[in-house]
Amino acid sequence: MTVAIAPDSASKTESQPLMRIGIPKEIAQGERRVAATPDTAQKLQKLGFEVWIESDAGVAASFPDAAYQAAGCHVVHDVVELWNQADIVLKVRAPLWHPGSNQDETDLLRPGGKLVSFIWPAQNPELLEKLSHKGATAIAMDAVPRITRAQKLDALSSMANLAGYRAVIEAANQFGRGFTGQITAAGKIPPCKVLVIGAGVAGLAAIGTARGLGAIVRAFDTRPSVKEQVQSLGAEFLELHFADEGGESSGGYAKVMSPAFIAAEMALFAQQAVDVDVIITTALIPGKAAPRLVTQEMVEAMKPGSVVVDMAAEQGGNCELTRPHEIYDHNGVKIVGLTDLVSRMANQASQLYGTNLYHLLNELGGAENHHLDLENDVVRQATVVLEGEVIWPAPPLEKTATPQPTSQTAVPTPTVQADKPPSLLMQLLWPVLIGSALFGIGAFAPESFISHFTVFVLAIFLGWKVIWDVTPALHTPLMSVTNAISGIIIIGGMLQISGPLTSTVTILGAIAIFVSTLNISGGFFVTQRMLNMFHK
Ligand code: NAI
Repeated sequence: MTVAIAPDSASKTESQPLMRIGIPKEIAQGERRVAATPDTAQKLQKLGFEVWIESDAGVAASFPDAAYQAAGCHVVHDVVELWNQADIVLKVRAPLWHPGSNQDETDLLRPGGKLVSFIWPAQNPELLEKLSHKGATAIAMDAVPRITRAQKLDALSSMANLAGYRAVIEAANQFGRGFTGQITAAGKIPPCKVLVIGAGVAGLAAIGTARGLGAIVRAFDTRPSVKEQVQSLGAEFLELHFADEGGESSGGYAKVMSPAFIAAEMALFAQQAVDVDVIITTALIPGKAAPRLVTQEMVEAMKPGSVVVDMAAEQGGNCELTRPHEIYDHNGVKIVGLTDLVSRMANQASQLYGTNLYHLLNELGGAENHHLDLENDVVRQATVVLEGEVIWPAPPLEKTATPQPTSQTAVPTPTVQADKPPSLLMQLLWPVLIGSALFGIGAFAPESFISHFTVFVLAIFLGWKVIWDVTPALHTPLMSVTNAISGIIIIGGMLQISGPLTSTVTILGAIAIFVSTLNISGGFFVTQRMLNMFHK
């Protein structure tokens, strides 16, 4: 289902752009990020949007107003006007009470307006209600699914990656010694030992950073499938000798483990706590409170001067002693519960987040063809309120790739106004054109051509169906299969190009070789890029 979000044409003159984006200054305490940098604002303009930004919105991220002006943005001083005039408001944090205008940011959004930001729908049902009353459409960047196709818009991953890096930097800052080992004339300095609990996006970034600083790194995760990634970063993967529960759900995400498993892993952490200098915890199962894995006794068993960085502080914390937003000392062990790790790298974080937003708006068709295609998994999962109707949670992704849910279990699909249907003439035009072309081919083409043409059409149809219906999690193996098929095509092409240079068969053979070579070299290139992600 496609929902066209039309610009408010009544309020705009003909010379005005199709759609206007508004970027307010973030008001959450300590938030330094901004939803667009001068660079990403320029990209948004290339998509056809006009960009309005609140004065000083980027200052805390080292982007002054002048840089936005130079990038073609319109700097606005009146925040009420900014919210009111914007077709789409881009933000980092979910709407809050706006002290300057003495009203909620949701109330600043114009009726029927559109908001794209982190929203955390599970934790913020009242916010969804407020947006619904406004008749708004809201896209939650935190609800973008972690699937291959959505990587470019996956703000959770781009932020967690930076946060994992920053967690190590904060740990190093609190730790009274160096991370790397040294042998000096004055004596031998042992390297710092780091334990990373949870090897997801943030955990892997933390492992890479700590290894880069020279630490000995150990890591644990309930998903055994991350073992190789941990090892490829030069860390040791701690294994639990426990009846295998397979910590992965059918969708590839972590699942809640049994109490016995959690007890066994905590016993492992208790042993490690005595030995390691730094513990970085990132354990989380999407949509659940963070599991309590590091107890007070474990912290007290650590050497004085040790550090615990609890990245899950905002979700309740993995460590029993964590105080969200704070760094404090418990018997000589520093417990870091900072929740603004990403904001501490506001410049880079804003650039990455702004790029995620740019890709999202590109996915939505830019300014000219702006629409919400609810058949698109990524758009459906991320849209939490649609024209005043709360449509969160979206049906689980796995179900959309497999048989459709029955009517009893299906999440009700909102009734929305679809695109204006094409005229009868346009509806008839394509069938008539295709029918005439097929008739022409059937009537005049040689018989041998017809049989080849039939195979060609069937191949396109089958190929398209096969690729379209593959679950996103299987895209990587699919890529290797297409590479293998390209190999077969190259051999076929080479067998065909032995004839005269100008013959159709030779030309087609050459094209087949060229296209297949592109596919194979592209495969090598992508593989190399993936491998580089794991290089130190
Ligand atoms: P993720 O979902 O990619 O990784 C979480 C990992 O924890 C998964 O690999 C999962 O298998 C593992 N896990 C779950 N239960 C476990 C258990 N009982 N024992 C061991 N491992 C377990 O999540 P991501 O994106 O890496 O984020 C990690 C944490 O960092 C989250 O809590 C997130 O909110 C937080 N974060 C904090 C920031 C801050 O400023 N403090 C900024 C960004 C992220």
